[in-house]
This record gives sequence, structure tokens and C-alpha cells, in this order.
Amino acid sequence: MIVTIDGPAGAGKSSAAKALARRLGFRFLDTGAMYRAVALAALQRDHDWSRPEALVALTREIKLELDDDRVFLNGADVSESIRDIAVTTATHYAADNPGVREILVELQRTIAGSQNVVSEGRDQGTVVFPDAPCKIFLTATPQERARRRLEELTSRGEQVTFEEILSQQEIRDHRDSTRPCGPLKQAEDAIEVLTDGLSADEVVDRLEKLVRAHLTPNPFFHVPTPALETCLVRFVARHRPDGGGPGVRHPRARQGTHSKIWRRPGPFKPPEPPGSGDHRHLFQRTIELCGP
Ligand code: C5P
Repeated sequence: MIVTIDGPAGAGKSSAAKALARRLGFRFLDTGAMYRAVALAALQRDHDWSRPEALVALTREIKLELDDDRVFLNGADVSESIRDIAVTTATHYAADNPGVREILVELQRTIAGSQNVVSEGRDQGTVVFPDAPCKIFLTATPQERARRRLEELTSRGEQVTFEEILSQQEIRDHRDSTRPCGPLKQAEDAIEVLTDGLSADEVVDRLEKLVRAHLTPNPFFHVPTPALETCLVRFVARHRPDGGGPGVRHPRARQGTHSKIWRRPGPFKPPEPPGSGDHRHLFQRTIELCGP
């Protein structure tokens, strides 16, 4: 199962997504780290930023690996250096480049494969994993995000004012949400979680509850798939307004293997209203329960 967590900078996505992945035993995928690593690779080679196509070629050339929260560029652990100010400032060249995005999106899908993943970024629920069953949009008011960032930076001994952070944040938000390719955007089916006033643990608790609600145990686990499929297809055939026409057919039916299954079970009867044995509800429920 894929859980996507998108949202603006400073909403606490990375730490929440990492902690959530640990609690669930899922793999954590920090996609921002990938864009940062491309920027770092370019800085290491004194890349000429006016040549976007060369950045695409460089992205193709480098070896990028992610292991939980560690990031490896051509085999070297760059988990700390990708957070440097110079890299943070240059990352938009990678993030704004459609060719780079295409390569990284592909890599993100490959890494996720068929694993259980918590994937964090800006475009995870909209572009990279549009079919993810659980999408979260984690956000906080600009003031709250800037306040947290100020706390973080001053605890590291950096001299910066609240106003400076707020204005840099505005620029970054604007750039992230107006990017023509893979912009920061809440997916229509994403659940928004506003983290103002919540502690880090409270945020993770809330996210865990949301994800676990999507992890309903599958009561059909022990039913062989063909048997389940048979039931579902029979059900669809019975309740189609046209009485189960040629639209409800399985390819194997043509070979005669399951011909019985596909026979219409008598004349079509309109489904009863909800509350009196409406089986359409059961079918809907079955689809939900059999989901990934
Ligand atoms: O999340 P983080 O701040 O590490 O991301 C670094 C930059 O990478 C962000 O400013 C954002 O513009 C970009 N990014 C992106 N798409 C993602 C993740 C991050 O464009 N999926």
C-alpha cells in the first residue's frame, strides 16, 4: 500500500512521514532528497545552470540510492550535505526541470515497486502515485511554519529573523505551487491535516489513525481469488440494469472454461432499496475490502 504525504515546506512532512513509516513498518521515501541530490551532483561538477538539458543528462548519469532516511549519491552518503544552504538554494533548478522530474518520478515508482511505502514530497498524490489509496496533505499556517523554522535555525546558532524566514518561505511556496510540471497541489482525494498547535507526536498519531483506517482487514483473505471473482462477476451480472449483457464477460469465458459463471441468472430484478438487503452495497463494500 502506498501512503502519500504532500504539503508545503516547513509543515513537518519529513519527520512525520519518517516516524509514520517506522510505526507502520513501511518503507520511507523522501522525494525532496532526490531533487536535492541532483542539485548537489550539479554543484560538485560546477554545472552551468543555463543548460537545463545538461542537467537532465547528469541526472541520467548519476547513481541515486535511498535507504530509509539516508541518501547515497554515486555510492557516497550525502544525507547531510544535501541539506546545506547552497544545495537548498540550487534545488529549484532540478525541481523546475521537466526532464529531471520525469527521471526522478520514474525512479520513485521503481523504488516503491509493490512495497508498502510512505512517500513524501509535493506531487506524490497528484502525479507520482495518483492511485494511492491513502493520500495526506500535511500543512500548517505560514506563521506557524516560519515559527518552527526559526526555532530550528536559532537552536543551531544561526542568526535569522522571523520576517526573513517568512519572506523566503513565501517565495518557495509560490515557486512550488506555480511550477508547470509537478507543482505542489492537494490531490482531490487527499485528506488535509493542519498541524498548527499539534506536537510532532500528535501529528504522527493522527496520521497513523488515518492510515490504519485504510488498512481494514480483508475478510475474504482465505477465499481463493477465482471463487471471489466468480461471486463478484455473478453479482455484477445480476444487478446490471441491462440484465448482465456482453459487457460483463471474462476473457476466459470465450474459451468456454467458465461459461456457467457468465450465464445470466434469470431475469433482471431491480435492486431493492437500501436497508432491505441492497446487494449493491455489498458489492461496493467488497470492492473497498478487496482494495490494495
Ligand atoms: O522536501 P524538501 O524541502 O527536501 O524538498 C526540496 C525541494 O525539492 C523543494 O523545495 C521542492 O521544490 C522540491 N520537491 C519537488 N517535488 C517533490 C519533492 C520536493 O519539487 N516531490
